[in-house]
Amino acid sequence: MDMTDLARLQEEFKSQLAEVSGPQALENLRVAYLGRKGKLAHLFSEMGTLSREERPKFGELLNQLKRFIERAVSEKEGSVGGVDSDFSYEDPTLPGVPPRLGRLHPITQTIREIGDIFTRLGFEIVDGREIETEFYNFTALNIPLDHPSRDAFDTFYTEQGHLLRSQTSTVQIRVMEKRKPPVRIIAPGKVYRPDEVDASHSFMFHQIEGLMVDDRTTFSDLKGVIHLFLRKLFGNHIEMRFKPHFFPFTEPSVDVDISWGRGWLEILGAGQVHPAVFEAVGYDPKKVQGFAFGLGVERIAMLKYGIKDIRLFFENDLRFLEQF
Ligand code: PHE
Repeated sequence: MDMTDLARLQEEFKSQLAEVSGPQALENLRVAYLGRKGKLAHLFSEMGTLSREERPKFGELLNQLKRFIERAVSEKEGSVGGVDSDFSYEDPTLPGVPPRLGRLHPITQTIREIGDIFTRLGFEIVDGREIETEFYNFTALNIPLDHPSRDAFDTFYTEQGHLLRSQTSTVQIRVMEKRKPPVRIIAPGKVYRPDEVDASHSFMFHQIEGLMVDDRTTFSDLKGVIHLFLRKLFGNHIEMRFKPHFFPFTEPSVDVDISWGRGWLEILGAGQVHPAVFEAVGYDPKKVQGFAFGLGVERIAMLKYGIKDIRLFFENDLRFLEQF
């Protein structure tokens, strides 16, 4: 090994470099000469076999050759591109980009929270359908075709005569048709109404229906269950009051208000299941008794979190959703 070997190696490198036409070939050439097991590394490792006098001179020339090759490779990279040019400036010590964590929508959270309370009271959570027939949305619920209360609900029909349900009470019928009493279910889901959208109205919102039927399920049971539920959800200091109301599918019917001491707010409708409803599903109204209720989920979430505008739930604005 001597100086002429280095000169030959340099010529060899130059001619090989001239052949290079792509980034991968260039990288291979670089590794062949400058890599940890490359030709230069080999020569450096053999320097120990030289005499003390030769060593510094040889070392200097070897370093020159190394710098020559490095410069030639990086110049060539300018024309063919480097294989690692995409990430060669990557700094592995920089902090990473944290993945965005998703979370449940506040309406979903509210539905689950309410579901948990009723599950502990022995209620089962069931699913219904959003596309319904007039029978389930009206007729079986004791709302005849010419009943005025259809006006507030009548909307969103398909050409085949199906409709988007306007209340989750449809699920009462579907469940009772399939099961014998006792029944204890809640049914959360979307409902649709011909309402103008504003801060407190939306053409789509969520309800939770409740139904309990047994041979003796009285109005006191209704009151007890609702009271327990409201205290679990809002706290023991909550006050509630029942106001007489009318629903075609319950008798007697009530609107339930709650209060923290400053005014009353209506949050759900309820009542004893109407005998006509039991007849529609083939239950004997003389043998069974039950209550039903329906509550608006957005309403409850708005109360619970102090939200003033229902539209916030549906705009998918992360600044809002991230707060829950
Ligand atoms: N379905 C009624 C509504 O949408 C609420 C309700 C359900 C009332 C069950 C009584 C019993 O307003």
